[in-house]
Parts: sequence; C-alpha cells; structure tokens
Amino acid sequence: MTDDAYSIRPAGLADAEALCAFKRQVFGETEFLLQGLEDFDDQVDVERDLIGRFHHQSNSVLVLAVDDDGRVIGLCSIVGGHLWRTRHVGTMSIGVLRAWWRRGVGKRLMLQTMRWAEENPLLEKLALQVHATNTAARAMYALLGFEEEGLLRREAKLAGGEDDLVPMGRLLPRRSAIVTHALVRNWD
Ligand SMILES: CC(C)(COP(=O)(O)OP(=O)(O)OC[C@H]1O[C@@H](n2cnc3c(N)ncnc32)[C@H](O)[C@@H]1OP(=O)(O)O)[C@@H](O)C(=O)NCCC(=O)NCCS
Repeated sequence: MTDDAYSIRPAGLADAEALCAFKRQVFGETEFLLQGLEDFDDQVDVERDLIGRFHHQSNSVLVLAVDDDGRVIGLCSIVGGHLWRTRHVGTMSIGVLRAWWRRGVGKRLMLQTMRWAEENPLLEKLALQVHATNTAARAMYALLGFEEEGLLRREAKLAGGEDDLVPMGRLLPRRSAIVTHALVRNWD
C-alpha cells in the first residue's frame, strides 16, 4: 500500500517542529500516555532541547516514524537511568497517531528501538508502565516478550476517573552472555 510509506529513524534536531505537531495531536487523541496536553510545552525550542538531551545520554534514544511528507506519525523512546545503580534500566514509551493504528507502525517502532537497546553496552533491562485498561498496548508488549511485574493501584488520572498501571519489564541478554556466546561460537 503506497499510503503506508514511512521510515523509522532516530530523531534529529531538525525534527523539533514536526515533533511538536505530533505531540499536539497525539496528546489530544489518547489518554493512555502519561504526559497529556496539560503538561505539554508547545514550543519548538523546548522540543529541540529535549531531542538534544537524548543525544547526550548514551543509554537513551528517541526514535521516530516519519511519513514521506516529513510528518511524525509515531514515536518510541528509551530514557535510561541516571544513577549508577539504575543506569542499566531503560524506560520505554510509545505513541502512534490514531489514523495509523493497527497498521504495524507500533510493532516496527518497538522492534527497532529494542534492537538498538540490545546493542547498547549499558542497558540490561527495558521497563515501562501501561494503563490496566489499555488492552492494545498490553497485547503488543506481551507479544514482544514483556512480562508483567505487579500492579500500581489507582496510579494514573483519567478524565473519567483513575486507572491502575501495570509495570512491565523485559530483560536484555547480558553483555557477558553475549561475549560467552560469541566465544562458544568461535570454538565451533
Ligand atoms: C499501543 C499503540 C502504540 C499500538 O500501535 P499500533 O501501530 O496500532 O500497533 P500495531 O499495528 O503495530 O500492532 C502491534 C500489536 O499490538 C496489538 N494491538 C494493537 N492494537 C490492538 C487492539 N486494538 N486490540 C488488541 N490488540 C492490539 C496486537 O497484538 C498487534 O499485533 P498483531 O497486529 O500481530 O495482532 C497505539 O495503539 C497507540 O499509540 N496508542 C495510544 C498510546 C499508547 O497507548 N501508548 C502506550 C502507552 S504504555
């Protein structure tokens, strides 16, 4: 399908304006992101700074799905821990414009971002929190190997009340295991 043409790539500073437009739209389309329009500072400079911060954190990445006209249609991020004791954990977040739902964008974004995480020398675990009532995202995370790690009761506000959040995690192969595996393979 020609209307499904988009590419997936890390965000650059030049994406700041398109990223603002994306957030303006996606925050108005879903309540299932922890950030909403109430907390969105809709300024290109602010967005440029945010993209720049991702470039300066070696355990963090901001990945975009961009259509042929340069519009951002989806976003997936990993924010790595800042402390020595938690810098091996990357917290993931994802959002896709409603018009693009159920066309494989979310899965592709997740898979490419997870592949980046597997190559990252600091990260050993991916973590996220999902609304208990968000059946679409919970199904996607389960499909991608994330496991539920408990229940945070009444943790998020929605317009109509509150929702529980489900923490989910996926352990990445340890670097030492990769090295061992490579050594074993060399012995074959
Ligand atoms: C969750 C979200 C990112 C999924 O993106 P998407 O592009 O529609 O997902 P895909 O088309 O790649 O589907 C991937 C998998 O998700 C699951 N899924 C997606 N939509 C679903 C739905 N409506 N019902 C059940 N499962 C669904 C399926 O397992 C699907 O795999 P399949 O196509 O092999 O059945 C998208 O719905 C979204 O942006 N929602 C609003 C923001 C949000 O909830 N973010 C997550 C916060 S934790």
